[in-house]
Amino acid sequence: MPKEPVQHQARPSEKEAGAERSEPLVHQHAREIQAFGRIAKLSIALDEKTCLASIDLLNQILADSMTLRDLYKKHHWQVSGGTFYQLHLLFDKHYNEQVNLVDAIAERIQLLGGISIAMAADVAETTMIPRPPRGREEAPVQLSRLLEAHELILEESRAAARLTAEAADYGTNDLLVSQVIRTNELQVWFIAEHLVDVPLVRADSAKAPTT
Ligand SMILES: [Fe+2]
Repeated sequence: MPKEPVQHQARPSEKEAGAERSEPLVHQHAREIQAFGRIAKLSIALDEKTCLASIDLLNQILADSMTLRDLYKKHHWQVSGGTFYQLHLLFDKHYNEQVNLVDAIAERIQLLGGISIAMAADVAETTMIPRPPRGREEAPVQLSRLLEAHELILEESRAAARLTAEAADYGTNDLLVSQVIRTNELQVWFIAEHLVDVPLVRADSAKAPTT
């Protein structure tokens, strides 16, 4: 007959210690380690005043970019009509590009020692982009809304690019010029061309020059 394996009997003190160490420490609360608007400066050879000014500018652009990002997803889901497939794909492509911009802006704020806006409620309180209705809108209205949001972001990004160059915060300036401004300008082109009212199949012969 095979011998029964000898079971190690844990002593009560061992049991308690084992359970203690594997138990998740849930429901923990504490004071925040950095208040919003306060700076925890890193050694990047930029003074606190310069960092604070750039953080303020970037947080506004961040809130507006997050709103534009979400506007693209709303329109990706809700678009309808003859150009459905094309716009459905284009809106998602632009959404993903805005996701990358949002991450780059937010991480720039953190490395400047600031705190990036993150949650939807804070974004809603901060953004300058008008709130769209919950309902569905026609494609031309969706496109117009996107163009207006892009223009607002481009205006504030160009102003911020000028100010950060003057303050010698070239890292922020480069992010704004090379990524935020260029991406938004390119997206404007792709959206705006959908609003040019040209015939799709039959040329408008009424407007042809007479010979
Ligand atoms: Fe999708």
